[in-house]
Amino acid sequence: MPYAAILHIDIGDLRLAENDQTLQQKLFNAIRDKITQGLWPLAGKLPSTRKLSEELKLSRNTVTAAYEQLVYEGYVESRKGSGFYVSIELPDHYLPEINSTLAEVGHIDQQDINRSFAPGVPDLTQFPVKKWQRYIQNHASRSAILGNGHVQGALELRQALANYLASSRSVVCNANRIIITSGAQQALTIATMAILKRNETLLLEYPGYVQMDKVSNLLNINKAHIDVEPLKGLNIKQLEATNAKAMYVTPSNQYPMGTTVNTEQRLRLIEWASLNKSWIIEDDYDSEFQFAHRPYTSMQGLAGQLGLDQNIIYIGSFSKVMFNGLRMGYMVVPESLVEQCNTIKDALSGDSPSHVQHALADFIADGELLRHIRKMRRLYKAKHQAMVEAIERHLPTHVEIISQPGGLHVTLRWVGGINEELLRQHALKQNLIVRTLAYYQPDGIKGRTWNGIVLGFGNTPLTDIEQNIVRLAKCFDQNESL
Ligand SMILES: Cc1ncc(COP(=O)(O)O)c(C=O)c1O
Repeated sequence: MPYAAILHIDIGDLRLAENDQTLQQKLFNAIRDKITQGLWPLAGKLPSTRKLSEELKLSRNTVTAAYEQLVYEGYVESRKGSGFYVSIELPDHYLPEINSTLAEVGHIDQQDINRSFAPGVPDLTQFPVKKWQRYIQNHASRSAILGNGHVQGALELRQALANYLASSRSVVCNANRIIITSGAQQALTIATMAILKRNETLLLEYPGYVQMDKVSNLLNINKAHIDVEPLKGLNIKQLEATNAKAMYVTPSNQYPMGTTVNTEQRLRLIEWASLNKSWIIEDDYDSEFQFAHRPYTSMQGLAGQLGLDQNIIYIGSFSKVMFNGLRMGYMVVPESLVEQCNTIKDALSGDSPSHVQHALADFIADGELLRHIRKMRRLYKAKHQAMVEAIERHLPTHVEIISQPGGLHVTLRWVGGINEELLRQHALKQNLIVRTLAYYQPDGIKGRTWNGIVLGFGNTPLTDIEQNIVRLAKCFDQNESL
């Protein structure tokens, strides 16, 4: 017989009504209501008569009598030597609305939102899950890490990260300056809360990363936009004309325009921040995946060489180099900001999951992270190449690629023809997720006269790329609304 786990029903909030009925009748009604509302599920094992009588301060006889009545009326069955089980199968229409809603939510297919060409998703089939499982297992049985941890993050992880960031990104740091966060998202929130007051202004790249836009909206921060121009990148002159309190920037691979901030421009940004006593929030996203050139030194590292890293917050994430569901990120802040960031993190979420942190620390220290990144860099380079070739071969000639060879997405631009939103809708019918450029411009498209979309290729198998682009090409021909 196949093994089926027994679902033990908890007494939970079972409560007897305050009315004139007998205790037995009240208990019967309370349990029957749980069953008919679908809260105590079919085949679930009821609490033992002993446990229930103790918990509800009823005599054992009362409980046994109520259970027998439930058996008699067919709600419950008694299994010899085992106990009482919910036995009634409720017709669907009997179940209250709330349960069917819960069931639907539970069944949303997670694969769905990660399918081709969803941006920001790495190749989930390539992550060495067995190896990762061993790292997790190594720590799962350690009772020493079952308690609360340091809010800043496990020292072992911060140490491993400090070495990794110094050697791969020239980040000037030590374990004391690193704070472990729940993805880059929490780091962005903590950074914004730590350095900006309500009436101060945060500069955002435009088009830009919408998750950062959400943070500034949530915190009621004034925001201003710095334009990112196709193929040219960040309009640094606009930046130099302001004395805003902080600038958020994705210098390795501007998201979503796919431009990069070169060393000379990085120095101008650093100078601006230093002269104005402003902050730079450097989101070093995609620095690991550059296919045409070696990555530039991080802005934090560059500033550190000049002794100017006191107002730079460096942010990173494991979402793309490992997998999104890990929800792990980090921030490197000047010593002067550590305590404040810890206080904010403590209030937002408390400490981070200990087993994952320790497994990750070993994964990095053993060189497994670097090994995985190197392997994936080769694969993504091949995927990027396949995207470029398929786009050139199959998409209309007026569609051009404007993003650099880097990261896990390609950004396209075209003038005239189908508009980007209609294209997105047609693509969805083809089971393809494409992001319009307007998605990255939540405050309006600002007179943009061209159409743009972002195609993520990370989680698309190399062998599917061409056929997916062929399907997308058909959408360009369908200029009628759906
Ligand atoms: C610009 C940018 N920064 C950071 C991230 C990673 O965020 P998180 O670590 O919260 O998954 C993303 C993910 O798409 C991104 O596009």
